[in-house]
Amino acid sequence: MKRKILSVLLTAAFVAATIAGCGGAAQQAADTAAQTADAAADTAAAAEEKVEETADAAADAAADTAATVEEAAEEVQEAAGGSGDVINVGFAQVGHESDWRTASTKSAQDVFSEANGYNLSFVDCDNDSAAQLEAVRGFIEQGVDYIIIDPIVSTGWDTVLTECDDAGIPVIVIDRTIDDSDKYVSWVGSDFLTEGKAAGEWLKAYAEKQGIKEINALIIQGTTGSSAQIGRTDGFSEIADREGWTILDKQTGDFTEEGGQQVMESYCKSYAGKFNVVVCENDNEAFGAMTAMDNAGVKYGPGNDVILISYDACTAGLKEVQAGKITADFECNPLAAPTVEGVIQTLQSGGTPEKQILVPDNWYALPDQIVDFSVDGNAQKMIEVTDEVIEAQY
Ligand code: AHR
Repeated sequence: MKRKILSVLLTAAFVAATIAGCGGAAQQAADTAAQTADAAADTAAAAEEKVEETADAAADAAADTAATVEEAAEEVQEAAGGSGDVINVGFAQVGHESDWRTASTKSAQDVFSEANGYNLSFVDCDNDSAAQLEAVRGFIEQGVDYIIIDPIVSTGWDTVLTECDDAGIPVIVIDRTIDDSDKYVSWVGSDFLTEGKAAGEWLKAYAEKQGIKEINALIIQGTTGSSAQIGRTDGFSEIADREGWTILDKQTGDFTEEGGQQVMESYCKSYAGKFNVVVCENDNEAFGAMTAMDNAGVKYGPGNDVILISYDACTAGLKEVQAGKITADFECNPLAAPTVEGVIQTLQSGGTPEKQILVPDNWYALPDQIVDFSVDGNAQKMIEVTDEVIEAQY
């Protein structure tokens, strides 16, 4: 722009000089025109510099503002407990089959929230093992920072865990175990074998107290091949074998209320009048079994023909203990997520978390059903179900 103005003014001066000829007056006119051109060019240059300075100052101010906003955002995240970067977590959850599962999912969503500095990709695998492997591969593709798996079944994991390892993504296993691979950082969960043994040892002590000489048990198992099913079945069976009890049958109810009802309906037909113990491998199966027994006219619970044992001890299960329907309930704590967060924070700060972290469980009954017993030589303490206990449960 500056050069254009200058050239126009010089051309004007030259034209003025030419028109005026080469005499003194002409020279004077040309000089005057040239001076005017110079002055105009200087003014234009000054104006342009001013515009450039103003633009630079505005750009600097904008950059400063952006940096301040970014710093403020980082400070907010740091105040929320993070390093300033959002941590991306993928969670391949089993499904939504039970009250326990709902509590587990809620706990994870509460802990791995945006407010806590996390971005959680959650997949409900609907009890489908193939879908769960697919979910994990999806997390690898996404490039998440950590993968949490609650394995539907305990085998078939080595290939996909190797893929996670190759991608450099640490895997944390919760609740159920993986038994055919150790390519994960930590497992956080309950001891299912101990839960099964506790149920068996409690039954032995309670039956003795009640003067019950013979045990004829029916088991409604959890999802076949899940470590929760395997541990509870094995633990209870170990005590049953040792005590010479009869296990009339064991079939899966898939950890659902519907499954529990279906299996119990069939048991009520096949074993009418022949059983005095029903073991349900979770509360929801117990609710279904109760409906089936109600329909078949079978009386269960303390003081009745059939002892009903359950696992999980969620709020709804403990209410049935209080109502005198479930005789004893063996907890499986679903609140692993806060511990998993601890594992992730240890990894974030370059530490090495423990490979196995047990979440403690409690055993529940009403006062008349509380008896002394031991598991593997360790004395157990039962908790009396009260309104306060139910209120505090999940
Ligand atoms: O893996 C834990 C088990 O799975 C719980 O006992 C049951 O309720 C859930 O579905």
